[in-house]
Amino acid sequence: MATENLLKFITCGSVDDGKSTLIGHLLYDAKLLFADQENALLLDSKAGSADGKIDYSLLLDGLMAEREQGITIDVAYRFFTTKHRSFIVADTPGHEEYTRNMAVGASFAQLAILLVDARQGLLTQSRRHARICALMGIRHFVFAVNKMDLLGYQKNAFAKIYEDICHLMTEFQPKSLYILPVSATAGDNVTERSSQMSWFTGPSLLEYLETVDVSEDVQTQDFFLPVQRVARPDLSFRGFAGEVASGQVAKGDLIRVLPSGEEARVSRILCLDQDRDTASRGEAVTLCLDTEVDVSRGCVLSAQKTDGFLSIASCFLAKVLWMDDVPLIAGRGYYLKLGTRMVPCSVLHVISRIDVVSGDRIDASEIVKNEIAVCEILAAEPIVLSRFADNQEMGRFILIDRISNQTSCCGMVDAIRTGQENLTWQKTDVDRKAREQRNEQKAITLWFTGLSGSGKSTVANALEKRLFALGKHTMLLDGDNIRMGLNKDLGFSKADRSENIRRLAEVAKLMNDAGLIVLTAFISPLVADRRSAREIVGDDSFFEVYISTPLEECERRDIKGLYKKAREGKIARFTGISSPYEVPEDPQCVIDTSQASLEECVDHLVAELERHGFL
Ligand code: ADX
Repeated sequence: MATENLLKFITCGSVDDGKSTLIGHLLYDAKLLFADQENALLLDSKAGSADGKIDYSLLLDGLMAEREQGITIDVAYRFFTTKHRSFIVADTPGHEEYTRNMAVGASFAQLAILLVDARQGLLTQSRRHARICALMGIRHFVFAVNKMDLLGYQKNAFAKIYEDICHLMTEFQPKSLYILPVSATAGDNVTERSSQMSWFTGPSLLEYLETVDVSEDVQTQDFFLPVQRVARPDLSFRGFAGEVASGQVAKGDLIRVLPSGEEARVSRILCLDQDRDTASRGEAVTLCLDTEVDVSRGCVLSAQKTDGFLSIASCFLAKVLWMDDVPLIAGRGYYLKLGTRMVPCSVLHVISRIDVVSGDRIDASEIVKNEIAVCEILAAEPIVLSRFADNQEMGRFILIDRISNQTSCCGMVDAIRTGQENLTWQKTDVDRKAREQRNEQKAITLWFTGLSGSGKSTVANALEKRLFALGKHTMLLDGDNIRMGLNKDLGFSKADRSENIRRLAEVAKLMNDAGLIVLTAFISPLVADRRSAREIVGDDSFFEVYISTPLEECERRDIKGLYKKAREGKIARFTGISSPYEVPEDPQCVIDTSQASLEECVDHLVAELERHGFL
């Protein structure tokens, strides 16, 4: 079957809009069911309903849970074929909670059918669904205004909803939009035009789906292939495997390797172990090149000239649809997966939240599940990417939580910040190694974490004195001090604390590069932020010290009087009282200052540093 004659669509609607019934009817009337499925349906309906009528929604109920609860809880894919076209339909859930499934369904589809209950008009849910579909790149929309039978097939009710839909859709600039009145249960305008609504002259839903033209959606004809794997079975063979994402490649073609920019000619094309002269979009191939070039997973082989749609950058603006129970916090680190590339990244800023109903942009620094936001993302290294509007494949990404490994969001690249790709790391001859040698020490970062008043600054100060006396070159960075200078623009929101730690880690790294032993004394309450700090500083140089003095003891000491103020509600988000402290999972050293003297704490730390080979 030719791919042009395949239409992939999704159906979206609220729980009672009759979505499953509509699709069920479509399949049933068009005689697209397998016989056994039909019999099962008849039996099922007889058993399940009092009047013995067929309940078409049972057709799409692939999941037991849906049948038990009467709602769809996952994406159910159905394949069907008519004389004119083949279809894959993703039936997506209506409940607000299942936005994630909807987004997954929408990312695969070319067209969306949105169900609207004629009695209720255009509700928030439909507006949300239209926005998510548009965000995921769908440009062809059908609105089926359902339950017309319950309104006596009146033209007026439809006309009002028609206007509302047109108004909503102006923002999304669809390439095609079809709005039709239907009755999913009675079958009006589903597969055949309804005799009940002679005032409506458009084609039935199935007729429309069979003919709608979505072919112009192929965004580029230029060849490119994101490398999934470097195949190197023996020394004589080196091939780059992946799926041709666009265009065609032929033996002898000159291609560029991105991001390096190196050029080479295609010497072999292998498809299922057969040698080929060409390969096209959608085919999984292994390409061999005529020269030794630096290619690894995540690189892109491209026929593109320099000014094409693919860019190389590490910083970009994106719209994200947040799907995680844990909110998105600016400054936080994630893994970015774009094309076949996966790199650490951080969300630098949440620029605004987009109201899913009105489309308004609202100032925000934190985003919760199901919300859409515009944010700025910085990848740890330059990657190959594209604006989503120019190429969906290279403009779409997900962020993965570094701790839970869950997909936190899907995102679309809106704008690429250029400039970063023009920066080149300058190597200096007097480097960290040289400075370490001269200082006769290993430059490391001792990262003290613990509650306010736990003794971080006191222990770090005493340890620094001991190291100084031993002739070591050190620097102590203390939370309060840094917050009075470099970080005086930051407060105590989660986003600000993340940024506080990020800057600190960068400074610690610079000081390590200068050959110094750095001691930092920051509450750094969250595991994810400390993990990001470890990544910035480098795992080999990062020594985490957890000052585990219990909260009761810190509060009893209350050296700065801050616990008292926090209990009185005079300080917001005070760590341990009204803001969380996450205990380190695997620190290199744990010290409880309520159990040992300062001298003993320092002795213990020095012994641990020696044991780890740092002193
Ligand atoms: S962190 O959470 O971002 O790592 P940091 O160590 O820089 O905190 O700063 C903590 C210091 O700021 C505390 O020792 C205390 O003196 C002061 N402080 C003021 N407000 C707060 C607050 N809401 N929570 C914690 N510390 C606070």
